[in-house]
Amino acid sequence: MSEQKRFNYRSLEDLKADIAALGLGEKILLEDDLGILQQPLKIEGVPTIANRFAVHPMEGFDSDPDGTPGELAFRRYLRYAHGQYGLIWFEACAVLHEARSNPSQMWINDGNWQVFAELVEKTRKASLDQNGFAPVCILQLTHSGRYSRPEGVPAPIIAHHSKFLDPIHKLPADYPLVTDDYLDRLQDIYVHAAELAEKAGFDGVDIKGCHRYLMAELQASHLREGRYGGSLENRTRLMRETMAKVRQKCPNLLVTTRLNACDMMPYPYGFAMAKDGSLSPDLEETRQYITWLREIGIKFINLSIANPYYEPHYGRPYDVPIINGAPSPEHPLVGVARILDIVAQVQSMFPGFPIIGTGYSWLRQFIPYAAAGTVKAGRAAMVGLGRSAFAYPDLPYDLFHKGVLDPRKTCVTCSRCTQIMRDGSHTGCVMRDAAVYGPWYKACTAKYHNN
Ligand SMILES: Cc1cc2nc3c(=O)[nH]c(=O)nc-3n(C[C@H](O)[C@H](O)[C@H](O)COP(=O)(O)O)c2cc1C
Repeated sequence: MSEQKRFNYRSLEDLKADIAALGLGEKILLEDDLGILQQPLKIEGVPTIANRFAVHPMEGFDSDPDGTPGELAFRRYLRYAHGQYGLIWFEACAVLHEARSNPSQMWINDGNWQVFAELVEKTRKASLDQNGFAPVCILQLTHSGRYSRPEGVPAPIIAHHSKFLDPIHKLPADYPLVTDDYLDRLQDIYVHAAELAEKAGFDGVDIKGCHRYLMAELQASHLREGRYGGSLENRTRLMRETMAKVRQKCPNLLVTTRLNACDMMPYPYGFAMAKDGSLSPDLEETRQYITWLREIGIKFINLSIANPYYEPHYGRPYDVPIINGAPSPEHPLVGVARILDIVAQVQSMFPGFPIIGTGYSWLRQFIPYAAAGTVKAGRAAMVGLGRSAFAYPDLPYDLFHKGVLDPRKTCVTCSRCTQIMRDGSHTGCVMRDAAVYGPWYKACTAKYHNN
């Protein structure tokens, strides 16, 4: 195995050599002809998506105390709009105050949906004016569950006890579980948030099912008793019943989810993992789950994996960890290959059902080649960018107009966006958007890490 642990490629040939040396050639396909990325994606019942790049949801934690998108949120989405993404998947937006992971997380409610309307309208208009098309706009609706921190201190709402996750917040064994009645009521709360999102003009909503927030934790609640735990039917009940209700109440609104294809946490604590307790995914659960969601009427899906608070190298391969975080235990290319391949395996189960993939940012200026290789081979229909969208919001624009990316603008997977978010500040790219986020990063590190 190659010793190289950090991105250090001057040319595509260098990257290809390392991919070959690591035996990853069947998982990371590189394609020189990038034309496929400019092809529109047509899905029945969905506005045409102008190209194959999506912005993944990326929280900026810069809303007002009542959840209203702030100035920096407007700045962020206008930058994406100028950047020529075909699909903009708006960041995690809480459905209740107590469901917020941070006092500055967005929260859509009766008092502020008009500001969301303004945000969507300005985003569409900016793209229309510059690029001649309106991006498809999806709002991610969330309950932060175990990671709820509405007042800035942990206030976990958990679906089951986990021997891997409870110790992180020092949760005692008798910490109460969220009740079935609470989960029943939550269905209507999601539906109301979806109605507000529709009034605000979003094309659709994502009932967030990834990264081990409440819905994702339920998906893995093998040990929970009652109607939301145990069998796959029960573990996916909140998602399925909520989606069905949204479909009924808002028939013209798209409903989708960003789903963890698997949790990369051993059974019985992880979703879609092998029953032998190893770290091998068992994507049969994922297959059944997505089959049910398609029956409810979802037309495309966004896939991710794992939990960013626990073994973050699985879900977002990095060169540099957060402060006091563990260095990546594997070559980040191995992590990139794993996510791309898990997405491809699920895509192969559902040919013709568009899946948006994750896990490209570590590849920096070579993202387009892996994206084109993936889309051309039918291993995903679209490529979503997370940290790269913060760092390089005009990435598709540069690619489509100049033919190549500028290495000086790419994400360097330094984890600083995660660091300032964990320290409770507004977040964005500290390296490439330094004038805005550099001072916050400095202030946070001085305050919390004596740097
Ligand atoms: C600061 C930060 C905020 C994020 N916010 C969200 C979010 O709101 N919703 C979500 O599903 N994922 C969120 N993610 C995960 C990203 O969307 C993405 O899955 C991850 O960064 C891996 O993709 P990448 O390699 O392109 O960065 C966030 C990640 C970071 C670093």
